[in-house]
Amino acid sequence: MGCFLLLKMRLSVVLLSLCAATLVGSSDWCYNTCLEHSPSHWNEIPGSSCGENHQSPIDIQTSSVETDPNLLNFTFEGFDSTQAIKSITNNGHTVTCEIGEKLVNVSGGGLNGTYNVLQFHFHWGKADYVHHPGSEHTVDGNRYPMEMHIVTMKDDLSPDTAANHTDGYAVLGFFINAAEGQNKSETWTTLTSFLPNITETDQTVNVDQSISINGLIGNVDLSKYYRYMGSLTTPSCSEAVVWTLFHEPISVDSTLIQMFPLTTRFVDIYRPTQDLNGRQVYTSPSSVHQSHSWCYEEHHCATIPTLWSSLPDSKCDGENQSPINIETSKTSEDESLGAFTFHNFDNKQVIESVINTGHSVQCNLKANSEVEVSDGGLPGVYTVLQFHFHWGNETSDGSEHLVDSKRFAMEMHIVCVKKSMDTSEALAHSDGLAVLGFFIEATQASKSGTSSETSPDTGGMTIPSTSSTSDLEAWKNLASYLDQIKTINTPVQFISEISIDDLLGNVDRHSYFRYNGSLTTPSCNEAVVWTVFKESIKVDHELMAKFPSSTGYENIYRPEQSVHSRTILSTKATTGSSPPVKAAGLFCPLLVFVWALLH
Ligand SMILES: *[C@@H]1O[C@H](CO)[C@@H](O)[C@H](O)[C@H]1NC(C)=O
Ligand SMILES: *[C@@H]1O[C@H](CO)[C@@H](O)[C@H](O)[C@H]1NC(C)=O
Ligand SMILES: *[C@@H]1O[C@H](CO)[C@@H](O)[C@H](O)[C@H]1NC(C)=O
Ligand SMILES: *[C@@H]1O[C@H](CO)[C@@H](O)[C@H](O)[C@H]1NC(C)=O
Ligand SMILES: *[C@@H]1O[C@H](CO)[C@@H](O)[C@H](O)[C@H]1NC(C)=O
Ligand SMILES: *[C@@H]1O[C@H](CO)[C@@H](O)[C@H](O)[C@H]1NC(C)=O
Ligand SMILES: *[C@@H]1O[C@H](CO)[C@@H](O)[C@H](O)[C@H]1NC(C)=O
Ligand SMILES: *[C@@H]1O[C@H](CO)[C@@H](O)[C@H](O)[C@H]1NC(C)=O
Ligand SMILES: [Zn+2]
Repeated sequence: MGCFLLLKMRLSVVLLSLCAATLVGSSDWCYNTCLEHSPSHWNEIPGSSCGENHQSPIDIQTSSVETDPNLLNFTFEGFDSTQAIKSITNNGHTVTCEIGEKLVNVSGGGLNGTYNVLQFHFHWGKADYVHHPGSEHTVDGNRYPMEMHIVTMKDDLSPDTAANHTDGYAVLGFFINAAEGQNKSETWTTLTSFLPNITETDQTVNVDQSISINGLIGNVDLSKYYRYMGSLTTPSCSEAVVWTLFHEPISVDSTLIQMFPLTTRFVDIYRPTQDLNGRQVYTSPSSVHQSHSWCYEEHHCATIPTLWSSLPDSKCDGENQSPINIETSKTSEDESLGAFTFHNFDNKQVIESVINTGHSVQCNLKANSEVEVSDGGLPGVYTVLQFHFHWGNETSDGSEHLVDSKRFAMEMHIVCVKKSMDTSEALAHSDGLAVLGFFIEATQASKSGTSSETSPDTGGMTIPSTSSTSDLEAWKNLASYLDQIKTINTPVQFISEISIDDLLGNVDRHSYFRYNGSLTTPSCNEAVVWTVFKESIKVDHELMAKFPSSTGYENIYRPEQSVHSRTILSTKATTGSSPPVKAAGLFCPLLVFVWALLH
């Protein structure tokens, strides 16, 4: 009896450790502890598919994913069972948890049939997961600290036949992110408590404690996921896997993440990302903000700003919404609002693409370009993700924020995410995002018509620098993309060499307002530390006019939201110069005056 049980268990371990090489024997390949059979040589392993062209893992480029309406919610069976996880094993490559036969199933989610969960296992980097993360899949080039794979097999197949079907297996992939200082999950604490008992290859311990798969998954939204067809990520790399990768990562305490490399001494156990080779990655409908489900004006759609609060997951009727009218008499000066530190704002290679979002024009930055902003009273370091614009029409101003009820011609938003967070996490924290808002106004010269380009001889007098705070060439260059982005959500590669500094020019970045607010588009998450700079960027009027005329979008700004009880802080006015906002407003008559004097 005991003998039979043992045999049965060993058999199931062998059958179930599919992602971990039992097909070729654990000594026949490695990640980094042998030379001949490291990942770039896996294709030489006899009978392996590792050199074929539908391999996993991949980098998921979010701008290229398509929504598949068939990717509806999964049905999970046994995920909350505390009896299903039988044992945990060091198989020489990773740590695997075996599931009792047919005790846990998954169906729905666009899968064709029921899949039985066989095992789950992990991929990780080094204990210094910040610099050496180890997820297998990456999202826009970003690697998470770890990844968990729940391996399932179609219920009418056997291990002998499953590898011969492109959908023989379904793997559910979860990214794992480090959480700091939050409550440690009991389930993860229990799971990792077994690691010191399986430090040697082939060591197995029974998991007789009550942990469930749901306990590990926590509150990840299981309706939001990517889907593509790929392979096992270890030899034999059979192209037999329907891949699911959930958008939201599981948060696990950093000390528990570190236990995986520290106890097993396996490091960087992930396969490099593989070429897509023409494959399409899909996303579930519930993960997409349908680009036409909301709009600014009635003639575009029914869901105008006053109705945004009716959208799914909408936070648009919260108390801390943006934009607002900044009444300067009600702001409080705050000495802690010092100078910002800008990192890589002068790098001319960081803009990846320009995209028509269906609502605005957005420039996406390259992943890992490390364009960062910190200090300036911000609670941490923030990484710039994108910048986009808000505008009016040919005759009407369209900034989102107002200063003393004055609307400016345009507004540029540089959207940054807290460096320690991914975007979905950031959206759930009140300071997860930082947005730098710059007003844009017409250069004086071009407003005064025909005399525009030939600037008057100032006779050595210095006209205030407001005549052009930005590098006009940079704006011309950017505006030249507006005619190329006719298709919504189709990024156009940015090939010009322009830095963010080029666009900002010499606008004063020391004088600004600060308040806590929200995204100004649905879902309006109250997750934004707002910085609104007092001085405006000056851009040629003709270039500004291209934004509405080329895109057809007009008046794309959200109406003013109530301040409620919020505090609006202001940098201290520097002595010797009048308040910059006033200066911008005063500038017209001043220039006209100087102009008149000179002629
Ligand atoms: C899982 O599916 C199998 C059929 O493949 C079924 O026999 C079993 O009862 C299911 N398990 C659960 C927990 O629903
Ligand atoms: C679903 O799987 C069954 C076998 O399990 C197969 O006969 C059928 O063609 C599949 N359907 C689709 C749409 O792939
Ligand atoms: C799976 O496919 C391989 C290669 O095409 C073939 O040699 C093998 O017999 C197939 N196995 C089964 C069980 O169909
Ligand atoms: C942390 O745990 C304590 C006690 O278990 C609980 O009161 C508290 O709400 C938890 N905090 C979070 C952020 O979950
Ligand atoms: C793990 O190892 C410790 C120390 O050797 C031992 O006390 C404990 O019983 C082991 N746990 C399991 C589940 O085998
Ligand atoms: C799908 O799951 C999500 C998140 O669990 C839920 O909000 C939504 O209502 C579900 N949709 C359906 C059609 O059941
Ligand atoms: C521009 O927008 C304003 C404000 O919505 C509107 O009153 C005006 O008619 C628009 N002008 C043109 C030329 O469309
Ligand atoms: C924003 O919110 C944080 C956290 O609640 C608070 O510490 C900070 O003072 C607020 N900032 C402003 C400008 O109100
Ligand atoms: Zn915006």
